[in-house]
Amino acid sequence: MKRIQIRTIINRVTNQERIFTMFVCICKGITDHQIKQLVTESGVGSIRELKQHLPLGSQCGTCVKVAQNIIDNTIMDESLFKEVG
Ligand code: FES
Repeated sequence: MKRIQIRTIINRVTNQERIFTMFVCICKGITDHQIKQLVTESGVGSIRELKQHLPLGSQCGTCVKVAQNIIDNTIMDESLFKEVG
């Protein structure tokens, strides 16, 4: 019985993450989740570095400013929650 409840909660959380995923680059189908993941796991800190991993901005280029904001906010969030000392 408890396993079923836990699985239900996990499914709800997973579904919420899916709802909040946003397409940043429509031309290439790149999401904010992909960008955040590259910042946190691969240390990407700029658009130039991001373009080494993803073809973001290679068509119309309207996504670059939003992507830069996501990079900046993710770096800020990461630094706010790092343990000190
Ligand atoms: S929206 Fe990213 S290149 Fe067009």
